[in-house]
Parts: sequence; C-alpha cells; structure tokens
Amino acid sequence: MIDNRTEVDVEMQEAPEEEPARQRFFIKKCRELLQKREQELGRKLTFHDQTFGCQMNFKDSEKLNGILEEIGYVPVNSEDADFVYYNTCTVRENANVRVYGRLGTLKTYKKKNPDMVIAMCGCMMQEEEEVQKVKEVYKFVDVVFGTHNIFKLAELLYQCLSTKRRVFDIWEKTDLIIEDLPSDRKLKFKAGVNIMFGCNNFCSYCIVPYVRGRERSRKPEDIVAEVECLAKEGVVEIMLLGQNVNSYGKTLEHPITFAELLRRVEQVDGIERIRFMTSHPKDLSEELISVMAASKKVCRHLHLPVQSGSSRLLEKMNRKYTKEQYLELVGKLREAMPDLSLTTDIIVGFPGETEEDFQETLDMVRKARYDSAFTFIYSKRSGTPAAEMEEQIPEDVVHDRFDRLLKVVGEVAKERNARLKGKTELVLVEGPDEKDDTMMTGRLSNNNVVHFKADASVIGKIVPVVLEEAKGFYYLGRLSNG
Ligand code: SAH
Ligand code: SF4
Ligand code: F3S
Repeated sequence: MIDNRTEVDVEMQEAPEEEPARQRFFIKKCRELLQKREQELGRKLTFHDQTFGCQMNFKDSEKLNGILEEIGYVPVNSEDADFVYYNTCTVRENANVRVYGRLGTLKTYKKKNPDMVIAMCGCMMQEEEEVQKVKEVYKFVDVVFGTHNIFKLAELLYQCLSTKRRVFDIWEKTDLIIEDLPSDRKLKFKAGVNIMFGCNNFCSYCIVPYVRGRERSRKPEDIVAEVECLAKEGVVEIMLLGQNVNSYGKTLEHPITFAELLRRVEQVDGIERIRFMTSHPKDLSEELISVMAASKKVCRHLHLPVQSGSSRLLEKMNRKYTKEQYLELVGKLREAMPDLSLTTDIIVGFPGETEEDFQETLDMVRKARYDSAFTFIYSKRSGTPAAEMEEQIPEDVVHDRFDRLLKVVGEVAKERNARLKGKTELVLVEGPDEKDDTMMTGRLSNNNVVHFKADASVIGKIVPVVLEEAKGFYYLGRLSNG
C-alpha cells in the first residue's frame, strides 16, 4: 500500500499543471488502469449515470460521460455497472429525498461487484451537511465532488482507482471555465450549449446561487466556435443554457449583451433553430425582443418564470419586478411576436402568502395566458433568507391552493394549445412515439409536441406537419405532402 501511494504521488507530480492538459493526462492514466483490468476480467468495464434536476445538470452529465467514454468505459442502461454516478439536485427538499431513496440500491450491486466505483456530484454535494452525511452514512460512496470541479473527474477517479481510497473534493467557488474537454450527446441533431454558469440574483427562496456560485459568462468566440463545431456534426437545434441568460456577458472583459450573442450564433450555417433557458423578467431587454422578432432561427417560445402574481410577494422574493411590469413586458412580447408561446414557473405557499396574494397569481395566469406552467410547492431551503421568514404556510392551505392553481393553468393551457389546430407547421422530429412506434414525435418552433405517422427516416429532420387534432398538451398530425 505504501509503495502504491508513493507511485501515485510521483505520478501526481508528473501531471501537467495547466488545464485541460492535466485532465488529458489523467484520462490516459485511467485508460491504462482500465485496460489492465479489462484484460484480467476478460470484458469491458461499464458506466451508468443517474441525473436529477435541471438542464444545467444534464449538460454537466454529458461532459462527465464524455470523459468516461474517453477513458474507455462503455455506457449501459443499468445501475449494475462498474462506475455509477449520481448527479444531484437540491432545489427542493423532495429532490434530495429521491436521491437518498435510490442510493441504497447501489449497495447491493457493490456487494456483488466489489470493484464497483460509486460517485456523487452536483448541487447537493455543495452543501456541507449533505457531504457529511455521505461521508458518515453512505460509506460505499467512493468519489464525491461538486458543481465547480466536474472537469476534474479523470483526476479524482485516478486517485480513487490507484489508491483504493475514498476521494472527496468540493470547491466552495471558482472563476475557472475549462474549455475543450470531451462531451457526449444524447441526440445527434439537438444540443445544449452552456453560455454562462452560476447566478447572482439571490431570489430569497432559492438555493441555486449558493450551490452554483457567482455568475460567469463564457467568451462569445468560444460559444460560437462550439456551435460551429456542433453544426458540422449535424446538429440543427441548439439550446443556450444559463440560470439567467438575459444577464449574459455583463461580467466579460469585453461585455456584450445576450441579444448580440444571439445575433452571432444565428449566423452559424447549419443551425436551424435556437432556443434558450432561462430568462429572468427583470433583465429582458427591448433589444432582445427585437432580435427574437426579426429572427428566422430563434424559436417562438419563451420560458419566463413569474413565481407569483402578487407584487408584495415578488418583493419578498427579491425578484425585482412588479405584477404590472411583468404584464407590460408580456404585452410587448405579444405585440412583437403574436405567435409566441409563453411558459412559466410558479411557486405556491411562499412564506406569508395570503389568499389575496394567491388570487393575484391566478389573475396573472389568466392575463399572461401561459401555454403551460411548472407549478411548485414552496420548499424551505436552509441558508436562504426565506427559510428564516415567519408565517410559513400550513400544508393543507398550500395543497388546496396548489390544486386550484393547476386547474386554472390547465384551463388556460387547453385553450392556448388548440390555437394551431388545422395549421401546417414545421416540426423537428425527435424520435419514435414512446407508446406507438409507427408514430413519430416532434416539436414545433413554439415547443408544442406533435405525434404523427412516419418512418424513422425523418428523425432529426425538420418536416411540415398538418396539426389535425389538439389534445390538450400535444397535437395529433400528419406529414404534409405539399
Ligand atoms: N434560474 C431559473 C430557475 C431555476 S430553479 C429562473 O430563475 O427562472 C427552477 C424553478 O424552481 C424556479 O423558477 C422556481 O419556480 C423553483 N424553485 C426554486 N427554488 C424553490 C423553492 N425553494 N421551493 C419551490 N420552488 C422553487
Ligand atoms: Fe434561483 Fe432566482 Fe437565480 Fe433563478 S434567478 S436560479 S430562481 S436565484
Ligand atoms: Fe437543481 Fe442544481 Fe439545477 S439545484 S435545479 S440541478 S442548478
């Protein structure tokens, strides 16, 4: 063991200090270890990921998977694998409960396969008490890292594989943005692209700024180069990702606006559709509205989280806009783009929410006419200002409001989603319908889903589809011959 450690120490010293060269060095080292093990076992080693939370986490998992594949692990669709990682979310309490609920099952696989390596990463691992819990209670977890150092996976894995010890590496914060490491993609024709990391908004209920750190933007030339590369690989739709894309570029050495970034990305040949997530209403500029309206590529969908319809609560939430300002913005958007689909996030049961506040939220849904809304029951996150607020709302009251909200959201959405019935729209075909494989599923520019009869040759293509029937949250259609 002592010899083994010295050897590893020597290798750690040999490793280049610069990134990403350092990680490339450890990818190679891991690959050598893996090849040796494959020969001993007479089979390939496998990996599996379990990803919770938002698009940001799914994007991080693509990067982690890219590294694992380059090391030589083969992806499998089962947790009975040689390397399994959980990329966790902590935005609401039930996200944490789900993670621990599943983690136990991994222990049984590990008993069968003692070589198995289990890793935990993501937002939950940026919370000290959760890391402590994993350290003490879940002793079969081998590697733990956070959101700031996912690029280090190969190095951490190498440490674990070569020393057979548990490795914990959590960074409190970072200014680093490491480019040019491998990344894997689930779909050939559609890809997410990070444009910024972290969040500076500190909405009073939200834990994201604490676990994802301060806002930092990637350089526009790096983003455009990545998009060009994706286009060459056959990607036709990209989703630009950030917690608040409307404040993109403010902290760059040469600041540019998000609208300007969109203009530059739009010029990339081969990219047909551009989406982005998420927009904060307080930073949505007139410039952005006009770039969107003039664009043939930017999709006719905007996700604009409102959180509440009550100006009094919006202030307590630190959202920095009022109900009136939000509705004015919606008015401008609808005027510039009458065909725009608008979706939102709403929280019910924020501390101090009265029936009157809640009625304002219902009124907001009716006035903004959302195509759909993600509705959440407020969840107390320790360390956030809202967790300290008095007047937390009793559970039965919250559930009653939640049900009433769902009903109104559903009514408005149903009306909205029937409006394209009979029209022919361009659809990006994503793959076979989950329930019926003679049918294909695709998305309109406004993000609505349509199912229609077609064979697999249209997957990844943009085709015209007649929207024959409106079924609430989706359409049934047929390929247009004209
Ligand atoms: N950056 C994005 C949202 C990230 S979190 C934005 O600001 O729009 C996604 C959604 O989770 C939020 O919009 C909010 O509606 C919800 N959310 C965040 N913290 C929550 C909490 N403590 N309880 C309930 N819902 C919460
Ligand atoms: Fe959370 Fe607000 Fe930042 Fe969104 S903008 S991630 S809700 S703090
Ligand atoms: Fe969850 Fe982290 Fe996203 S807390 S919502 S995975 S940024």
